[in-house]
Amino acid sequence: MATFNEKKTCNQHMEEFKRFVWNPDTKEFMGRTPGKWVLISLYYAAFYVVMCALFALALFVLLTTTDPYTPTYQDQLKSPGVTIRPEPKDLKISFNISNPKSWQYYVNALQHFLSAYNESVQAKISRNCTPGNYTFQTGYGPNSKYSCQFNREILKNCSGLEDPTFGYKTGQPCVLIRMNRIINYLPGNGTTPNVTCGVLHAYPESIGDVVFYPENGTYDLSYFPYYGRQPQPNYTNPLVAVKFLSLKRNRHFEIQCKINAPGIINDNPYEKFEGRVIFHLDIQK
Ligand SMILES: *[C@@H]1O[C@H](CO)[C@@H](O)[C@H](O)[C@H]1NC(C)=O
Ligand SMILES: *[C@@H]1O[C@H](CO)[C@@H](O)[C@H](O)[C@H]1NC(C)=O
Ligand SMILES: *[C@@H]1O[C@H](CO)[C@@H](O)[C@H](O)[C@H]1NC(C)=O
Ligand SMILES: *[C@@H]1O[C@H](CO)[C@@H](O)[C@H](O)[C@H]1NC(C)=O
Ligand SMILES: *[C@@H]1O[C@H](CO)[C@@H](O)[C@H](O)[C@H]1NC(C)=O
Ligand SMILES: *[C@@H]1O[C@H](CO)[C@@H](O)[C@H](O)[C@H]1NC(C)=O
Ligand SMILES: *[C@@H]1O[C@H](CO)[C@@H](O)[C@H](O)[C@H]1NC(C)=O
Ligand SMILES: *[C@@H]1O[C@H](CO)[C@@H](O)[C@H](O)[C@H]1NC(C)=O
Repeated sequence: MATFNEKKTCNQHMEEFKRFVWNPDTKEFMGRTPGKWVLISLYYAAFYVVMCALFALALFVLLTTTDPYTPTYQDQLKSPGVTIRPEPKDLKISFNISNPKSWQYYVNALQHFLSAYNESVQAKISRNCTPGNYTFQTGYGPNSKYSCQFNREILKNCSGLEDPTFGYKTGQPCVLIRMNRIINYLPGNGTTPNVTCGVLHAYPESIGDVVFYPENGTYDLSYFPYYGRQPQPNYTNPLVAVKFLSLKRNRHFEIQCKINAPGIINDNPYEKFEGRVIFHLDIQK
């Protein structure tokens, strides 16, 4: 183990380093002859050129085969998800008619949500469409598709205009049913979808009288298809409002609202929000 004990001086280290940088005996620069350095540089240059070319090719193929305005792969779930407004925690709407503080949150949430549906707002960003049929549009690129007007006036007693408390003050609350957007989806396959609501496992209690806005709880076909955020940035979802007119007080109800139309699945036991929504309603007095 002689090398262990060898103590090199600083000069010796310098000498060794110099020899490493340029070895006059073997004519090696940093361990390789200039010829080898040229070859290795050429090898690496060629290697990186090929790598870059492959990357560019992959990017090019990807960009030319995908459309920036529609997703290439869509979820196979072809029935829309359904949500409600107001959107309370755990989907539990619970309030005491005599205690305005207990329902003010729902009323504020609805007023806030519906302000995007003010006639003054909608008239600026969308057009009046002919009801009764899908609104197909051609054109390509960002902001190339117009949107159809859905004014909150359509929701009449649930518009928050005549009755700013949406019936919460009198125990006849409104709940808005909203279908999630699916690009290029044609709900109902030509038949207008509608909403129906019922009480789950609550015999002998019943849902009482309910009224839907618009009439018959329909989503007019003219609001479909939705073309996507980039081509159709002004799109606003059509809504159906359901107003519970005579739900019993101080009872807990589990309410299911379904969207009915050909091709819409609303009874999948594993998908609670596919084509339907279940929420809790508890009106105290
Ligand atoms: C929408 O209309 C309501 C009621 O008329 C009003 O209070 C609210 O400020 C309006 N919101 C917008 C954004 O125009
Ligand atoms: C969307 O709304 C803006 C105003 O906010 C309007 O300038 C634009 O033309 C609208 N887009 C379409 C496609 O109508
Ligand atoms: C819907 O459009 C089709 C063809 O585009 C037409 O034949 C049909 O009459 C329209 N239906 C309504 C209710 O306007
Ligand atoms: C809507 O509200 C008005 C005024 O409160 C009332 O007269 C009318 O009966 C209501 N309509 C329904 C269907 O509840
Ligand atoms: C939609 O309706 C047309 C006929 O109107 C039918 O040929 C087609 O199979 C239907 N599509 C679906 C998904 O139900
Ligand atoms: C609502 O449904 C009834 C019965 O199906 C029908 O007579 C009425 O015309 C419908 N109203 C609208 C606005 O579609
Ligand atoms: C709701 O839609 C279903 C399925 O399309 C239909 O059978 C039913 O008559 C509709 N109800 C109303 C009130 O329009
Ligand atoms: C609702 O509020 C009133 C007044 O504060 C109270 O007397 C009543 O007990 C409350 N009801 C329930 C079910 O908590």
